[in-house]
Amino acid sequence: MTTRPADDEQLRTLVQERYTQSIAVVSGQPAQERGCCDSGCCTSTSTSGDPITSNLYSETELNGLPIAAALASRGCGNPTALAELHAGEKVLDLGSGGGIDVLLSAQRVGPTGFAYGLDMTDAMLAVAERNRVESGVENVKFLKGIIEAIPLPEQSVDAVISNCVINLSADKGQVLREAYRVLNAGGRFSVSDIVIQGQLPEVIQKDMEAWAGCIAGALEEETYRRLLTEAGFTAIEFEVTRRYSVQEVAESGASASIAALSQVERDELESKFVSAFIRAQKP
Ligand SMILES: C[S@@+](CC[C@H](N)C(=O)[O-])C[C@H]1O[C@@H](n2cnc3c(N)ncnc32)[C@H](O)[C@@H]1O
Repeated sequence: MTTRPADDEQLRTLVQERYTQSIAVVSGQPAQERGCCDSGCCTSTSTSGDPITSNLYSETELNGLPIAAALASRGCGNPTALAELHAGEKVLDLGSGGGIDVLLSAQRVGPTGFAYGLDMTDAMLAVAERNRVESGVENVKFLKGIIEAIPLPEQSVDAVISNCVINLSADKGQVLREAYRVLNAGGRFSVSDIVIQGQLPEVIQKDMEAWAGCIAGALEEETYRRLLTEAGFTAIEFEVTRRYSVQEVAESGASASIAALSQVERDELESKFVSAFIRAQKP
């Protein structure tokens, strides 16, 4: 088990390395140059079988996209389906990965709207841009940067979406303040993320593979609500969209730290990790 670094910058670098490795198959990198990411990323290298990332999108949604966009999907929900995007709106996806939710958002907001994707990982941005070109979509731009310092002016978008990314940040309060800053008045925060309904054992919190697997950085619902409120958001709602067994959590990167728990501690975690759709509003 690799121990999670305490320093935010080092943690971001490790997350970036894990996601560069996880996307290597989709980005066409030769096998001998790829790292290993069998565990410790939000998914393995396919869209089937992973307990967190599989079966998130309808066939109709996937049919309109390049296959590489689906293969690159590392999310834990379908925020564009739940975000109620309207024609002409501007949308920002935090941690856009291979671009699936940005391309779906672009379809929803139509040619008079616009969708930005923001990601820190070059390999992800390259796959996303290839998917954009292949889709022939013009109302999309992928930005390089970190979600803790969004490279957009204040009040520039109507909706902030994100899919299984905020849990990866070491400074979630800062991410939420940034989301608030870039939203227009009345703008919506519409995010899918992993949340824990209970206490996160310390051994899992320190497990780097579990962090990269979107497990160890999960916030407790009350903490998420408090950070959203402190950032200025109102009308905060949580909706559980999927619930995970301890076995599924172990398969998502946390196998070493789960193995270190007692049977009683494992029983306490049963079905406590969930995917949630989180809504909030900028007044
Ligand atoms: C679990 S994947 C999700 C990708 C995408 N949202 C999806 O549903 O397929 C996490 C993505 O967030 C990016 N990421 C993680 N932490 C980030 C940060 N602090 N700033 C910007 N991007 C970040 C990673 O590079 C990776 O592409």
